[in-house]
Amino acid sequence: MVAGTGYAVPKRVFRNDEFASIGIDTDDAWIRERTGIRERHIAGPGETLTSICTEAAHNAMAAAGVSAAELDMIIVGTCSPDRLLPSASVELQAALGASRAVAFDVGAACSGWLYGMQVAEAMMAAGSVETVLVVGAELLSRIVNWKDRNTCVLFGDGAGATIVKRSTKQRGILASYMRSDGTLADLLDRPKGGAAYPMTAEILAEGSHLVHMRGREVFKNAVRSMADACDRALDLAKLSSSDIDLLIPHQANVRIIEATAKHANVPMEKVFVNVDRFGNTSAASIPIALDEAIAQGRVKDGTIVMFVAFGAGFTWGSMVVRF
Ligand code: UT7
Repeated sequence: MVAGTGYAVPKRVFRNDEFASIGIDTDDAWIRERTGIRERHIAGPGETLTSICTEAAHNAMAAAGVSAAELDMIIVGTCSPDRLLPSASVELQAALGASRAVAFDVGAACSGWLYGMQVAEAMMAAGSVETVLVVGAELLSRIVNWKDRNTCVLFGDGAGATIVKRSTKQRGILASYMRSDGTLADLLDRPKGGAAYPMTAEILAEGSHLVHMRGREVFKNAVRSMADACDRALDLAKLSSSDIDLLIPHQANVRIIEATAKHANVPMEKVFVNVDRFGNTSAASIPIALDEAIAQGRVKDGTIVMFVAFGAGFTWGSMVVRF
């Protein structure tokens, strides 16, 4: 069961109308109409992935009444770690002083938190751990191409943290579904700068180590996969769409969210949307939305929430949770 949640974002808010001032040929109307995004948070010089993960984790631990010493495991979903080696999760472990916790990252892009929650649940069911910290966090501003209007307007920075504890049968994850399709990896990737094409001055100059996306193709796949994942999760949980009190989808684009909700037959009043204020924060988007939904009183004891995610890989999945 989810025992506590928290989030943290960098202080600086970057509004749509500021892109023009850095030489990007775009405007507020285009971004709002095509994506629903109004603004996003962008990290400043002193901020790191570890610093926002730590703040989000402290908030979740305070909400759950759990100390760092009680954590058995830390899972971080991210595609923008502070260092390529070691993992973001061990940096977080050190920052928290969670010396008992085993720590590892999940590389599933925007589905990272959802995958992490399912790994946590499976490890708890196996009896290996009692208390797990699952974080989804990104500093996408550090890995996007700030000269590419197709991508730089979409993303934001942030971290969402969740404390999960072993649940009774009536509460916790009722159903979960995970899928991947690596044959479509080229549609959303960082083509170079990894071990296949180690960094060179040429790669740096052309920016091929930065996020590259074929937006329209990704859009179609996102809608198809998230719609299917909602159907699967409902089938597995033996529930119908009217049983869902709140749908919390990955916040990539309000049009993708609306299409997914329509397919799942969940009215927009029951769908959580905050992409307008945060942009697409990849793995952080769902846990940030969950924390806001709890703070707004939209998730209480007994509330049934369906989560659905989609990201680079492709990776996607869904989860139905009774709180
Ligand atoms: O997190 C999970 C992975 N990511 C996603 O799920 C994102 C999926 N994709 C999308 O959200 C949308 O495809 C975008 C928001 C990226 C683009 O929206 P679209 O309606 O699919 O637009 P488009 O790609 O069809 O482009 C339409 C036009 C193009 O111009 P032409 O070729 O029609 O003349 C683009 O060059 O809009 C142009 N354009 C822009 N114009 C102003 C692209 N980016 C911008 C921009 N400002 N920032």
